[in-house]
Amino acid sequence: MNTFAKPKRIGILTAGGDCPGLNAAIRGVGKTAIVEFGMQVLGFNAGFSGLINGDFIELKASQLSGILTLGGTILGTSREKPYKLVAEDGKENHKPEKIIENYHHLGLDAVVCIGGNGTMKTAHLLSQEGLNIIGIPKTIDNDVWGTDVTFGFDSAVQIATDAIDRLHTTANSHQRVMIIEIMGHNAGWLALYSGIAGGGDIILIPELPYNLDVVIRNIEKRYEDKKPYSIVVVAEGIEHPKNQSAANYVAKTIEAATGVETRETVLGYIQRGGSPTPMDRILATRYGAFAAQCIADGNFGTMVAIHKNEVTTVPLEEVGGKLRLVEPSLGLIQKARNMGVSFGDEE
Ligand code: F6P
Repeated sequence: MNTFAKPKRIGILTAGGDCPGLNAAIRGVGKTAIVEFGMQVLGFNAGFSGLINGDFIELKASQLSGILTLGGTILGTSREKPYKLVAEDGKENHKPEKIIENYHHLGLDAVVCIGGNGTMKTAHLLSQEGLNIIGIPKTIDNDVWGTDVTFGFDSAVQIATDAIDRLHTTANSHQRVMIIEIMGHNAGWLALYSGIAGGGDIILIPELPYNLDVVIRNIEKRYEDKKPYSIVVVAEGIEHPKNQSAANYVAKTIEAATGVETRETVLGYIQRGGSPTPMDRILATRYGAFAAQCIADGNFGTMVAIHKNEVTTVPLEEVGGKLRLVEPSLGLIQKARNMGVSFGDEE
């Protein structure tokens, strides 16, 4: 039985890399907290830095109007990790103590931390300190453990798919091999989904070790079969030399081996910018509203999550420090293979 009575004052922050849908989530938490539960909402600026420095603004319902469709985050974000205890000069930085002090000094009843894996790890550690914390999972990488999907992913898939669609026409005109590098250091979800949605011929992701000889033979075979161009989608995190981008390495190697003109595109931060898709607006809104409900219910130390399209919660301690990677046995990969997509790992 939870004895938490009536939360009155809550904080929200957005941490880690930004993504489309953050403002929709802030709005979902804030409007539900204010309108449905009569709470006061403080927005902390620039991720955990705002909590450390006591840098915040009060978010009234009027400030939460008109932000649903906006990209980025009205609160700003940072990659501040308060539990990296040793500062540059080798001394302890005391940031967690500052957060705890500010939490109590400001009379906070709970803090909603919107972020990815790193943020959930920090959220868990703060929760272990006795603070009331709720996590909301976001990232274009879709790699947060404990949920079926993060918001930001659908928008990024749309952007990356549009880019691949555009590469098809220019690749065809020039009969070239086009390499497109998609974000994802550890998880290949974005490269996989946009690669399949965009009709990529070869898709290379970190979870499936590839062999460039296999890729080269595949491209040569495509030419023999009178397919005059090829689209190769690579996740930024595939194995490649440190002094080159993944796309540059793959492009140079393919061109040298096949003699076919090869060009590379690194899509970069465009994947994180702009307005969220309707699916991401809805997901972020559901997550946000549910987080406010969790505060009202005293359901702390949890991350809101989606399982089989139902919003639920998972304990933060199960989430922190883990990544949800693409399973090589995923049915979608098998179906794509059967339809002729190469993952560079088998002939
Ligand atoms: O948001 C996730 C992500 O986009 C990764 O895929 C990417 O490698 C990383 O963030 C880069 O972000 P930053 O340069 O902001 O650290």
